Amino acid sequence: MLRVENLHVAVRDRLILKGVSLEVGDGEVHVIFGPNGSGKSTLAMAIIGHPDYRIVSGRIFFDGQDITEKPIDERARMGISIAFQNPPKLHGVKLKDLLARIASENGVGERFLEIVDRLNISQEHLNRYVNVGFSGGEIKRCELAQALASNPKLIILDEPDSGVDVENLELIGRFLSESLRGRSALIITHHGYILRHLKPVKAHVLIDGVIACEGDPDQILNRIMKDGYRWCERCRLMRGV
Ligand SMILES: Nc1ncnc2c1ncn2[C@@H]1O[C@H](COP(=O)(O)OP(=O)(O)O)[C@@H](O)[C@H]1O
Ligand SMILES: [Mg+2]
Repeated sequence: MLRVENLHVAVRDRLILKGVSLEVGDGEVHVIFGPNGSGKSTLAMAIIGHPDYRIVSGRIFFDGQDITEKPIDERARMGISIAFQNPPKLHGVKLKDLLARIASENGVGERFLEIVDRLNISQEHLNRYVNVGFSGGEIKRCELAQALASNPKLIILDEPDSGVDVENLELIGRFLSESLRGRSALIITHHGYILRHLKPVKAHVLIDGVIACEGDPDQILNRIMKDGYRWCERCRLMRGV
């Protein structure tokens, strides 16, 4: 479904990704771990086609097509969606209008209301401007609703669990375990919590713009919890990447 080949990405002339390759199969869930500033969000932005993230070299393939040069809106229409780590406030745009528009443009119709219901988003929130005065957990739940309302083939979740309390984590975990079925997903996370609900097939550890380590998500997470990212750094040096 997604193949990233030797991707080099620069932001404002600074090279952030220095040769990232990964492949996410049809219906597979993968996780990305990595310390702050290692380039995880940059990878997400490059895959969706954000214009500030310049692809210097390498290619991105999605659903059998080379999308490296395609603009962000075309990639979205092809079936890629994202839940941002830090989504903006949208003054003047009501959440329900945005969700209804995303859903209708993607043939989802009124079924977006089921997503709203399962994410426990209230009528009051639907009538408010997107993210204006929302709490951390509310922002993450509304962001997931927007990402799923387009019925995407590939969904990228950039830290859906950061800054979220335990009850919301539980709700988000249960929601994702149902909603990701049949989709491909790339989930950026620091927490093992979400892995209680999801069974990703593979984890990738991004350090300083390269994939330092890959393998079984539970094993890698346990190792990071025990030894920190220093262990991945050693692993990286041993592999010579
Ligand atoms: N829009 C941007 N403008 C300037 N620098 C950026 C931008 N996006 C990312 N960076 C820089 O790229 C590096 C990687 O950031 P990021 O991809 O957000 O890391 P992560 O998500 O792993 O914490 C950081 O040094 C960050 O400051
Ligand atoms: Mg990030």
